[in-house]
This record gives sequence, structure tokens and C-alpha cells, in this order.
Amino acid sequence: MARITAAPAPRSARKGSPRPPADARPKVTVPDILRVKGQGGRITMLTAYDATFAAILDAAGVDILLVGDSLGMVVQGLESTIPVTLDEMIYHTRCVARGRRRALVVGDLPFLSYQVSPAQAVASAGRFLKEGGAEAVKLEGGVAMARTIEAIATVDIPVMGHIGLTPQSVHRMGGYKVQGRTHGQRAGDRERILDDARAVEAAGAFALVLEGIPRDLAEEITAMLAIPTIGIGAGPGCDGQVLVLHDLLGLSERTPKFARRFADLRTEVLRAARGYVAEVGAGRFPSDDECYHSLVPVAEPARSGARG
Ligand code: KIV
Repeated sequence: MARITAAPAPRSARKGSPRPPADARPKVTVPDILRVKGQGGRITMLTAYDATFAAILDAAGVDILLVGDSLGMVVQGLESTIPVTLDEMIYHTRCVARGRRRALVVGDLPFLSYQVSPAQAVASAGRFLKEGGAEAVKLEGGVAMARTIEAIATVDIPVMGHIGLTPQSVHRMGGYKVQGRTHGQRAGDRERILDDARAVEAAGAFALVLEGIPRDLAEEITAMLAIPTIGIGAGPGCDGQVLVLHDLLGLSERTPKFARRFADLRTEVLRAARGYVAEVGAGRFPSDDECYHSLVPVAEPARSGARG
């Protein structure tokens, strides 16, 4: 668990002691994530939506796989996360859990699967563990969700909070806008976000996602809380970082300001698909090497135009 136990050892200390392969490292648990704060480590979290990518990200040593409701936008082609259903989230969580060996799997509660009442939230969160194979859930909201977080945490389902730019509040925010730039107590104001952070921690969350807020506000929250913060568009001062997988891989058409393309898979996929179209069109795929052959010789097939 090199990433989340501590900052890397000095070079000399690491000489001759290569890191063990990713899946030989111990399973990441909720207590491990909580311990990060005191140990100066950095948590890595990425979204995942299927078993193939979950296995790759897990092998790369990513600590937390978040089955985010962002799948509504990057997988389902929706304009927002609002229409995503609980059944859809659980289906994708099950896929991710099958591909994971070491990482902690966190399921994201979709819009209106937890806001109706704390009892509804407990039932929805429970489905992520029972049916999806998740080990924790995430939900959006601060002060207003404190009782809900408490209810879920009380039945020993670990909860990750999420405040700042909360995509399920897109209509209240009037778009995906940076929050916490103004002073005051209205939703999205700096002092209100500080209250939200305190409320999420007091309610029993084990970690907190900070999305789309100024870096100095994220630093203030990170210094104020005993639980680790995980930032997205919140600067480097958080205890960890999270990105949407499609942004990291360069699969999205546009990359948000806060994200970095660590690869350009959009170009690669285009190149591969164009190559396939060209080779099939020209009759060069499949080649004879890419064919199965009969075990006993058979007569040459009659070619069109061949005489008999
Ligand atoms: O749904 C999601 O992917 C998220 C992350 C961006 C934190 O909530």
C-alpha cells in the first residue's frame, strides 16, 4: 500500500528493494484510508465502471475505485448525472468489484436514492454492499445530509462525503461552476462549505471529496479535518486526488481545466478503428494467419467464376 501508507522513502533506502507486484500488496481497507492523514501519504482514487478497467487500475496500484454516477455522462451519454438509477449503479459496481483485487470499491449513491429520508439512504447504501460488492458508499451534500450520513454510518456502512461542486445540484448551481468563491452562508458560499465539511466529519464520514473549490479553501478544510480529503478541481493541498477515468485517459472530447490527460486514448482508438475499417475494406483482414484451418485437407472451395 505504498501510496497511502506514507510519502516515498528516500532513494537510498529504496535501493535494491523493488516494490512488490501490485496484487501482492495488502488489500486497502477503510481504516487504511483513515490512517493516511497521520502518515503524510497521498490517496489515489479513480472512477471505474467495468471489470476490465477495474483490473487494470487495481494492478496499477490505485487505492480506491469509485463507481461514480459520472457514468451517466461518460458511459450512458447523458447531459447530467440526475437520471442515473440505483439499479444501474449497482450493476456497474458489481462489474467493478469482480475486476478488483486490492483497491477499496466505493459506490456512488445516485440522485434521489438517499435524499428522501435517512431510512431510504440506509436501504440504498445497503444494496451497494449486498448486491454490488462495494465496501463503502459516497453521497453528495454537507449540513443537509448530516443525519443521512449518520444513519448510514450507524449501521457500519462506511460513508465518503462530497461537497463543493456537487454535480447532482447542477440546477441549483446553474451549471458546473466553481463553488466557495463568495463569502456567506448560502449554499456554495465559502463559510457554508466550511460548515458542510465540519458537518460531514461530525456525522461519521471516513473521507471527504472536495470538488471544484479554490485551492486555498481545500487547504483550509484539509488542515481543519481529522478525516482525509480527496480533491478533484480542488488543488494539490488535499490528502488525495480523484479523476474521472475518461479524463485521465484522454477519452473525453474536452478535458476540464483541473484534469490532466495522462494518455491520449481518443486518438489511439480512432487510429485503431480507422485501421480496421481500411483493412476490412481492402480484404486484408483477416489474413490467412488469422484464420482457423481444417484438420483434414478439403477440396479447394469453388471460386466465383471458376469453372467446374
Ligand atoms: O461521479 C463521480 O465520478 C464523482 C467524482 C468526480 C468524485 O463523484
